[in-house]
Amino acid sequence: MISIGILVGSLRKDSYNMKIAKYIVKNYSDKADFEIIDIKDFPLFNEDLEDNVPESVLYARKQVKGKDGIIIVSPEYNHSISGVMKNALDWFSRDDYVMMKKPYLIMGASDGSIGTARMQGHLRQVLNSGAFQMYSVPYNEFIFARIQDNMDEYGNITNEGSIKRLNNKIDEFVQFIETLRSNVK
Ligand SMILES: Cc1cc2nc3c(=O)[nH]c(=O)nc-3n(C[C@H](O)[C@H](O)[C@H](O)COP(=O)(O)O)c2cc1C
Repeated sequence: MISIGILVGSLRKDSYNMKIAKYIVKNYSDKADFEIIDIKDFPLFNEDLEDNVPESVLYARKQVKGKDGIIIVSPEYNHSISGVMKNALDWFSRDDYVMMKKPYLIMGASDGSIGTARMQGHLRQVLNSGAFQMYSVPYNEFIFARIQDNMDEYGNITNEGSIKRLNNKIDEFVQFIETLRSNVK
């Protein structure tokens, strides 16, 4: 089975983006093996720390390296990538380039009406850089706008349209990974 790592760009206890990541793990285990990769203990990136890379980073790097694809689920902060996510990506961009040339899918939830579209544009730019060179699934944009109106207290998505779009997007991503793998073989 295809294995997919999920990175979440919010550390908030009740994070909607984390709830979406958990929703994917819970509801799509028949489509792929999903795992949320913990980045909450990463220190702020500092080249001085690279002589003795923290255990939390080493562990997560190993997890990322073993995945066939990566989903990023992240909020938009001030029209861009959250510091938490950018910090994790900076750590993943070093040493053995664990994200290099992996397929990826981006999604994000916000309490506003254009939720995370601008952040997603910036993220695609970062993931196209030399240390990543990642393969973007076609139409790589998935937005959960006004998430507070479309998710219940248990983290279930309540909007039928969003559920259908998410089903399709997960199928498309798994198929994209399989196509890339079969072309490499
Ligand atoms: C520092 C900060 C900046 C924010 N900037 C934006 C923004 O630019 N666009 C947006 O749609 N929401 C913005 N928000 C609101 C977030 O969409 C909202 O807090 C969301 O719930 C965060 O995701 P989370 O629930 O996963 O933590 C911002 C929130 C914070 C704390």
